[in-house]
Amino acid sequence: MTRTTDNESRTTAAGATGRVLVVDSTGRGHGICEMFTRTNPHVVVHYGPGCDVIDHPRILPAPSVDLTDPRTAAEFLADHPVEFVFVSNIDALSQGYVDFLRAAGHRVIGPTAAAAELESSKARGKEFCRDHGIPVAEFEVFTDPAKAKEYVTAVPYACVVKTDGLTPDGDGSVVCDDAADAVRAIERFAERAARTGEDLRLVVEERLTGHEISVFGLLDGQSAMLFPTAMDYKRTLEDDAGKNCDGMGSIAPHPQDSSALREQLRSVLVDPLVRGLKADGLDFTGFVYIGAMLTSRGPVVIEINARFGDSEAEVVLPGVRSDFLQLCRAVLARRLGRHRLDTDGLARCSVALVQGCLDPEDPGALVGWPFGPFATGQAVLGMDRVDPEEAVVFCANVRRDGSGTPRTTGGRVLHVVGAGHTLEQARRRAYGQIERIAFAGMRFRTDIGAGVAAHVATPAGK
Ligand code: AMP
Ligand code: GLY
Repeated sequence: MTRTTDNESRTTAAGATGRVLVVDSTGRGHGICEMFTRTNPHVVVHYGPGCDVIDHPRILPAPSVDLTDPRTAAEFLADHPVEFVFVSNIDALSQGYVDFLRAAGHRVIGPTAAAAELESSKARGKEFCRDHGIPVAEFEVFTDPAKAKEYVTAVPYACVVKTDGLTPDGDGSVVCDDAADAVRAIERFAERAARTGEDLRLVVEERLTGHEISVFGLLDGQSAMLFPTAMDYKRTLEDDAGKNCDGMGSIAPHPQDSSALREQLRSVLVDPLVRGLKADGLDFTGFVYIGAMLTSRGPVVIEINARFGDSEAEVVLPGVRSDFLQLCRAVLARRLGRHRLDTDGLARCSVALVQGCLDPEDPGALVGWPFGPFATGQAVLGMDRVDPEEAVVFCANVRRDGSGTPRTTGGRVLHVVGAGHTLEQARRRAYGQIERIAFAGMRFRTDIGAGVAAHVATPAGK
């Protein structure tokens, strides 16, 4: 149940009460806007730059807002005052969107650039974990590829080789089976750096074994509210083949979710993280997403992200029943600890529809996302035929052209999400509705949520 205290109500007196700006343009951003409007009957969400395909009377695109330039948001806010701004996109966060808008006098939820560095530099995220006693895989950072090669040949375990910074398609990590594999990965990253002129900075870490889990918390700087867990399908192809990418789909809750596991995740990962942020003087409000491995020695951090996972947002946020506007007010008042998250306890399955190759038979055709170049601008048909009782569609890289037709504009185009009392039911609903959608080169994984133990709905968060 969400309660608002007098103090929290007073903090809303300034600005346009009940209006917010969400800075993002992904399926996750749509998920956050949808959560705001579904859990509060009055809130109006400006979504910048947002997406003009979203058809909701209280989600208003703000295309003049540029993720890489916070001045555009400040200009927008001068004409459209809001109660607060919610920044949920790492490109914006890592460029200091939160710092800039706060300095301009706005109330903002999101980590500062210094706090977002936990994601924008993998080395920084890992050093933070090591400094604060949060379990993390063994790792070393290299700028010299020869030294990195020496290291992967000497250590007694298989490695994962990563570029330190952000990568556009989430393909900055190579999971290696042996030293020869790791040497090849180091050489590929070194060649890429030489080609682009970027400095080479590699993180080489111990390859962990176990089941991966996505862990989410809403932070107010004092405490964390845990959100349901999820499982992400990061590999490009069926059966977890192909390289890592931003993700081809997700399920929630994670198949191993239990109250005992949630307690462990809180005490081993989330609470130490909140304490570490405070100790380091890092101003982090909003969502944190910890990618972790459930190993035989307990949960171990793979990465810390300064925003919600995408496409995990699409399977977790639709289950939230608490008034999210009130939770945000509690974040701003640093009183989140007084609130509890209510969720519907249903299972969800999200499948990403991506811009693939237009003609696999044609050797001259662009290969499709995320393998390489891809041909956007394809008309997206059938979104209006999706039955809202069966599935929800979250918009990512899709925009209207001059005549109003939705067209693909990037790799992940749509996320189709089914819900049910069992994962199988959720999965059937998502895939059933995908059949109604079509665009040239549409590709998706057919095995999201397949072969996973059934989930029986329990009132999670209770
Ligand atoms: P990252 O780029 O850090 O998000 O990693 C992408 C994916 O690579 C993760 O979701 C894991 O599937 C895999 N991965 C990264 N680090 C490790 C590790 N230390 N051990 C095993 N798998 C890993
Ligand atoms: N689901 C992976 C990510 O958001 O990075």
